Amino acid sequence: MPTAPAAHPSALDALDAADRRFGWHPFTQMREYQDNPRLHLVRGEGNWLIDWEGKRYLDGNASVWTNVHGHNDPDLNRALREQAEQVAHVTLLGLNHPVATELAEDLAGLTGGALPRCFFSDNGSNAVEVALKLSFQYWQLVGQPAKRGVISMAGAYHGDTFGTMAVGARSEFHRRFNPWLFAAQTFPAPTHSECAGKVARSDATESLAALQALLDRDAATTACVILEPRVQGSAGMVQQPAGFVRAVADLCRAHGVHLILDEVFTGFGRVGALTVAELEGVIPDFLCLAKGLAAGYLPLAATLTSESIYAAFLGKSSEERTFFHGHTFSGNPLGCAVARASLRKLKPMLASGQVAARAQLLGQEMQAAFAGHPHVRTFRSSASPARSSSSPPMPTVGRPIPAPVIRSPLPPAGTDWSSAPSAIRSCSSRPSPSNPTK
Ligand SMILES: Cc1ncc(COP(=O)(O)O)c(C=O)c1O
Repeated sequence: MPTAPAAHPSALDALDAADRRFGWHPFTQMREYQDNPRLHLVRGEGNWLIDWEGKRYLDGNASVWTNVHGHNDPDLNRALREQAEQVAHVTLLGLNHPVATELAEDLAGLTGGALPRCFFSDNGSNAVEVALKLSFQYWQLVGQPAKRGVISMAGAYHGDTFGTMAVGARSEFHRRFNPWLFAAQTFPAPTHSECAGKVARSDATESLAALQALLDRDAATTACVILEPRVQGSAGMVQQPAGFVRAVADLCRAHGVHLILDEVFTGFGRVGALTVAELEGVIPDFLCLAKGLAAGYLPLAATLTSESIYAAFLGKSSEERTFFHGHTFSGNPLGCAVARASLRKLKPMLASGQVAARAQLLGQEMQAAFAGHPHVRTFRSSASPARSSSSPPMPTVGRPIPAPVIRSPLPPAGTDWSSAPSAIRSCSSRPSPSNPTK
């Protein structure tokens, strides 16, 4: 297997010094960062990241849950190159480029055409902001301005912008900004713990009863319920039983409240299907996609919605129905081209059971390597096969593992991970501001 050429030590020292001097890393306590050895990664190959000295590190969190086919994938590289030779960026603000239209059509297929309208943006927080703002504006446009409230699930993480912080848990990530956040109501998460298809405990009664009580009381003043379906990633891989998302959707429908499914983390094979909406047979009012959408190559996000919600925004400019929201790089053509190429690869892998077979192998190997390790608290597996396939679940350790990236043999069972870099060590520890798992 080829390795990256070792860099001249003085070049590495210069990079390190410049990083210390000029860098400010996200979700990172910079004092601790400066005081510890820093890792400069220069190349990726499959499921490995490679540092300046050619040393390989398993990309255990799939580059924060974005990577779908592995690093440096030849098909995605080709799609990126071909699009770059056409045009690297065209704004979607009042203009269009073909690959955005083609990808929008592909994404409409995720819900069998039930959510045909695709609003592009460029990261997960923005995909959720768009859904929230669309829901708020929709209720104004249809003459129900009192429907302004949001209900979210305890422990939720939907992003770092003000709207998404407001509807997420007031954790140590965001507590400092509380005075600027609008109020949202919460209902408790269900209890569920599952590993390799075996359910240790599962109870959604209290959670659903609490949501029902909130909706019975406040539906007239509630715009939407927002949910990370099946697994709350940043909360620490908090699982939900199969059928829970459908039950939430039924309650929303019965009470005339929008359902936003935030599939920023769970989308694109992460839980064994393209989306949890597909797994559960649920059509939300808004479906938020990012992270794996462009397979970890480029920042791209999409908020999908129905034709009837879209129709409420139509009218003359003077009627002020326009949705005034947009980002400079919304629907960037390079990202769209890679996303299309990724989807073309991923769909048959999911349908053929290839993902499931690799996941099964990964699950066995991970369990053999980590079960009983002092830094591993629990071992959970939280994926179901796509509805159309009979494949086994996709295992996860603490966070979902990108099953499609296994190309190289795994290290033998009993491997000592204690000297592994933080990218790997963080697989087994709790999220904290200095060790973020978002
Ligand atoms: C469920 C969920 N929603 C939204 C986000 C925010 O996405 P981004 O970091 O791209 O803004 C994340 C990020 O981890 C996420 O897990």
